[in-house]
Formats: sequence, C-alpha cells, structure tokens
Amino acid sequence: MLRRLPEQKGRRVRFLFEGEQVHALEGDSVAAALLAAGAGATRTTPKSGSPRAPYCMMGVCFECLVEIDGVPNRQACLIEVRDGMRVRRQRGAPGLPGEAEDDPV
Ligand code: FES
Repeated sequence: MLRRLPEQKGRRVRFLFEGEQVHALEGDSVAAALLAAGAGATRTTPKSGSPRAPYCMMGVCFECLVEIDGVPNRQACLIEVRDGMRVRRQRGAPGLPGEAEDDPV
C-alpha cells in the first residue's frame, strides 16, 4: 500500500476514475494519484484479463495503460492529472482509432 508523505501540499484537483471521484494534488501523474487513492488495477491484459497496476512509473513497462477522456492506450504515469479528467481502466487491447465498426473516426 502506498501513502503520501505527510508534508506534501498543493492545490487539490479532482477527477473521475471508473465514475468515482478521486482527489489528487496538482502535479501528480494519473498513476501516482490512483496509487495514492488505492484504486488498484489500471488495466487488464488482453489474453487472460489479469489485472495490472503501474509498476515502473517512468514510461517503460506500459502496465499503467488507461483510457483518458475516451482516448485509450494512455500511459497514466506520464500524464499529469487535470480537474474533471475522466479516467477508465483499459480492458484488453483496444483497436486503433477507426477500426471498430461503430467508431466515427
Ligand atoms: S508505470 Fe510503467 S509505463 Fe507507466
């Protein structure tokens, strides 16, 4: 379990993860905010559906993939939280934009 250092201060921002409100500090990455909030898995694997969570926190492992504001394959550890951001777990391997029949791209 991860916790914030007690001396961490900053402007609070709020965003949604799976429809639930999460509080973060300005400057947090999405991954850090989710770990601090105890949100658990950020994605599931394409083959077995196993849960995965952020690991390297520096853009190397890709375990932190999420959907942000409707855009899949975003690395949560490299993206700063913003007020009102909508984040969802990435389930499996989403196709490229325009691949799905109902995708308007
Ligand atoms: S946690 Fe490894 S790429 Fe984001």
